[in-house]
This record gives sequence, structure tokens and C-alpha cells, in this order.
Amino acid sequence: MKATKSKLTNQITESDSEKLRELFVDGLKDIYWAEKHLAKALTKMSKNATSQELKAAFEQHTTETEDHSARLEEIFGMIGEKAQAKKCAAMEGLIEEANEIIESTDKGTMVRDCGLIMAAQKVEHYEIASYGTLRNIARTLGHSDVADMLQITLNQEGETDHKLTELAESYVNEEASAE
Ligand SMILES: [Fe+2]
Repeated sequence: MKATKSKLTNQITESDSEKLRELFVDGLKDIYWAEKHLAKALTKMSKNATSQELKAAFEQHTTETEDHSARLEEIFGMIGEKAQAKKCAAMEGLIEEANEIIESTDKGTMVRDCGLIMAAQKVEHYEIASYGTLRNIARTLGHSDVADMLQITLNQEGETDHKLTELAESYVNEEASAE
């Protein structure tokens, strides 16, 4: 196994690593667009949430999301690239789903909160997948400082996901089922 791995590593040519860098920068542009648009969407989700706890969770993550954008801008600078956003079709669709939940549920209900948690967790899982992959590519490209920064954001996305699960399990789902 070890021999195979090192053989593959030796096969990485300069142009391969240039292509990997392109993929990496593209991934950063994608998640940068996602973070910028998510901040606005989270504000709307917070306004439309029923319970104070969920409102607060969304508010806190709005602030964190703004920090994530700023961190990405720093990362672009560290690798000598201009901070540029590239439309992320996946995040656009996930935000659209959150809007549909607001439209299809009644104001002031726990069913709405249950739906908003579902939408937000889909967003978090998309971000967790993106940041996890980007962190690994950063390491492969030898940017351990960038990988460490991506890890900070990744941790916050994970904590948010965990908190949303806790809210769902502690009272939201049960109260929604009683409505
Ligand atoms: Fe984020």
C-alpha cells in the first residue's frame, strides 16, 4: 500500500499541481460566493424563525458567516489571488429551499422551525464538505497556514450543525408534532 502511494505521489507533475491549484482557487471562489449570499439568507431565516433559541442560533451564525467571508479574503491574499466570488449553484438552490420552507409553512409555528433547521443543516453539510475538501487540498499544495485557517471555519460549521441538531432534539420536533 505504502509503495503504491509513494509511486502515485511521484507521478504528480508540475502541470498536475497547477491544475490542482486551479481547482483549489475555484473552490475558494465558490464558497466565497456561498458565504456572501448565505449571510443575507440567514438574516431572513432568523427573522422568520418562531423560537427565540433558533433566532439566536441563526443570528450568531450570521456573524460567523461574515467572519468566514473575511477569512476567505485573507486566504486569497495569502495565496496571491484576488478575492473573487463565483456563483455557487448549489448554495443558490439551498437558499431557495429555505425560502420555499418559509413560504409553505405558517408563521409562528414550530413546524416552520423544524423546516428551517432542515434547510440550515443542508447548508451546513454543504459547507462542511467544501471546507473539508479545501483544507485537504491546501495541505497537499503545501499551504499548511491556509489549511489551519480553513479548519477554524470548518469547526464553526460543525458546531452550528451540532447546535441545530440539539435544538431539533430538545423541543422543536416534539412541539411541531403537537401542533
Ligand atoms: Fe460559513
